[in-house]
Amino acid sequence: MLDVGCGLGAGACAAATVWPSIAEIALLDRSALFLRLATELMKDSGVPAPIKAIERDFVAPPALAEPPCDLVVIGYALTEVAESDLSSVVDRLWAQTSGALVIIEPGTPRDHTRLMVVRDQLIALGANILAPCPHQAPCPLPANDWCHFSVRLPRRRAHRLVKDVAAPFEDEKFAYLAVGRFGASRPSARIIAPPRANKAGISLKLCAGKAFRETFIPKRDKARYEKIRRKDWGDPLRAPVEEI
Ligand SMILES: C[S@@+](CC[C@H](N)C(=O)[O-])C[C@H]1O[C@@H](n2cnc3c(N)ncnc32)[C@H](O)[C@@H]1O
Repeated sequence: MLDVGCGLGAGACAAATVWPSIAEIALLDRSALFLRLATELMKDSGVPAPIKAIERDFVAPPALAEPPCDLVVIGYALTEVAESDLSSVVDRLWAQTSGALVIIEPGTPRDHTRLMVVRDQLIALGANILAPCPHQAPCPLPANDWCHFSVRLPRRRAHRLVKDVAAPFEDEKFAYLAVGRFGASRPSARIIAPPRANKAGISLKLCAGKAFRETFIPKRDKARYEKIRRKDWGDPLRAPVEEI
């Protein structure tokens, strides 16, 4: 796998945790300091795969690394690319991918808009959308909305001191796009906002098929309600919501 704009190697670390069998990890960054720290952190965490550090600017050169990789990850780095360079960087990322390309960005309206441009470009290049969209059609969200998700991260003491905050966690909002050269069975829908529960039932905001929709599952519909109340923001729904 290749982690482009690796910083401290969060993407590579996550991939190595999910797939300990990864044969080789390439870390790419223009900062020699980040590359050194990421390599040390990964070794200290016991990642068994050999690690290659590539000190390179991913906007400038024609190729990122040799050879193409099964998995290419770019986390919170495409957001730093100028609008005028975005398309050529996406071409390069896709050319580098023999399997799947995963792009993670801050969960802001600006980054969602850019990600949708990137999505169109990747579809035109022949990519299959793997997530989060359960379809390959244009994004159905209205212009004043943006697709994003949230993950709760623990804050250690040092983290709290540096940020001068008291809460022992933070909710990080992110947007993402996973595309592949292979197809995959798509979910029927994805929950794209926090589910809202009240006395009568639960409301879900779904990207379903080619459409965006709000749906309400009443508590009196016991079987469906029991299944759906365990779902969270970002989760896929395998069956159509009417059949759950
Ligand atoms: C915000 S950090 C994200 C780091 C890491 N991917 C993560 O998710 O924690 C952005 C990283 O991208 C690198 N970067 C930004 N633009 C770059 C470029 N044109 N070429 C190489 N690295 C770049 C920076 O040096 C930095 O390490």
